[in-house]
Amino acid sequence: MSDNGSPPLAHREMDPETFRRHGYAMIDWIADYLAHAERYPVLSQVSPGYLRRALPEQAPEQGEPMERIFADFQEQILPGITHWNSPTFFAYFAITGSGPGILGELLAAALNVNGMLWRTSPAVVELEDVALGWLRELLGLPSEFDGTINDTASTSVLYALAAAREAAPGLRARELGLSGAPRLRLYQSQEAHSSVDKAAITLGIGQQGIRKIPTDAEFRMDPAALRAAIQEDLAAGWQPFAVVATVGTTSTTSVDPVPAIADVCAEYGLWLHVDAAYGGTAAILPERRWVLEGCERADSLVVNPHKWLFTPIDCSALYCRRPEVLKQAFSLVPEYLRTSEPDGIKNLMDYGNALGRRFRALKLWMVLRWFGQEGLRALLREHLRLAQQLAERIDAASEFERLAPVPFATVVFRYHPADVADEAELERLNAALLERLNTSGEVFLSHTRLPGGQYALRVSVGNARTEQRHLDRLWELLQQTACTLPRGTIAAVGG
Ligand SMILES: Cc1ncc(COP(=O)(O)O)c(C=O)c1O
Repeated sequence: MSDNGSPPLAHREMDPETFRRHGYAMIDWIADYLAHAERYPVLSQVSPGYLRRALPEQAPEQGEPMERIFADFQEQILPGITHWNSPTFFAYFAITGSGPGILGELLAAALNVNGMLWRTSPAVVELEDVALGWLRELLGLPSEFDGTINDTASTSVLYALAAAREAAPGLRARELGLSGAPRLRLYQSQEAHSSVDKAAITLGIGQQGIRKIPTDAEFRMDPAALRAAIQEDLAAGWQPFAVVATVGTTSTTSVDPVPAIADVCAEYGLWLHVDAAYGGTAAILPERRWVLEGCERADSLVVNPHKWLFTPIDCSALYCRRPEVLKQAFSLVPEYLRTSEPDGIKNLMDYGNALGRRFRALKLWMVLRWFGQEGLRALLREHLRLAQQLAERIDAASEFERLAPVPFATVVFRYHPADVADEAELERLNAALLERLNTSGEVFLSHTRLPGGQYALRVSVGNARTEQRHLDRLWELLQQTACTLPRGTIAAVGG
């Protein structure tokens, strides 16, 4: 205890002056970090368990000064960070936050509100409505699409499929015992994201309830095969209930033919969910509106501003044409959460499994306002240009082969020297190339496997700070490193 009887400083909530001092220091650090993120190895170079070994086994008995905590953040935590902020992060779907998004997160953290009910923070509910309304209009989606923000597209598809099941005849979830459940079938292409499978498993539909529809030469769902599968399942006593189409598949960014799929859904009365988590954002460009063609007929659609709209993770927008069905699937109000607000007030807890809701709309609203429609379009166009240019370089190089169309800003390709025809050897060479590039710390790429079995490399451009020079260097590295790979079947991956 101090002289005046209060607990020592470190045991109390931070006073405003101390908060201000450390806050300024951290903001300074963040500004420098963002400006120079490429100084760090993009892929973390630590080995498993490094942090467990470095940190004490127990929480400190006495509070510690923030200077020491911040120093440890820099010395111990930072080496274990893979820098998604780096302009040479080209793996998976490259993403960025942005200054306005980070500041939005900061304010949301300071307010620390839980937007579960309208009354627990009216602005959380109403700003979500406004920001998602703006985004809906930017994407060209119809006004009846009602949006809610979830953490991820994985959660959004889980909620969408729960609504789809709710909408199916005789299938109100809360009235079903597991034993009474019919044999439900869900359709998706063989290239759909694994989050759809996880959602089906979580909902008790199981993997046996999923039918994966074959794709065409450009990795798009075949609507004729979809119709045939539904007919076959109906004849065998299954109950088809939903189709998931993808706009921008994870592996090759292919775009399923949504208009034709919507026709099939209309014919059989099935819920159509569109996973536009990555690719949907491109529709803010008038010249790419076509990517969401037919999506106005979807029952639900997900697009992730945290993927390609400069909003810090996490922020996934789920649009639903029949929000009352989503609400019916999830609304369950215990006494302590009953309120006297008039009908028509939206309580976010009614639109998903989570009761608590972060104030995610704040960062999205700040991003939309800071960049403006023009600014966002300019950034996306630059990413598309850089990806297109890489695709052209690959097409023009005899030792490289592009393996998929490039409708967005992701290029799928492989190193393919003229004298190597064996698929296993090509895989070994490309895996070795990937390993060398990634361990260099200069760039970070990822890989995929195509339906035909080919191992492919992926470069995704999505960072607000990625410039021409970064793509030039990547292309140089790809060519130089490929030339030095040991050839022959005894070459070890990474050797
Ligand atoms: C097409 C697609 N859908 C869904 C997801 C899942 O995204 P999230 O991490 O938001 O759950 C991904 C992830 O990359 C994706 O590529």
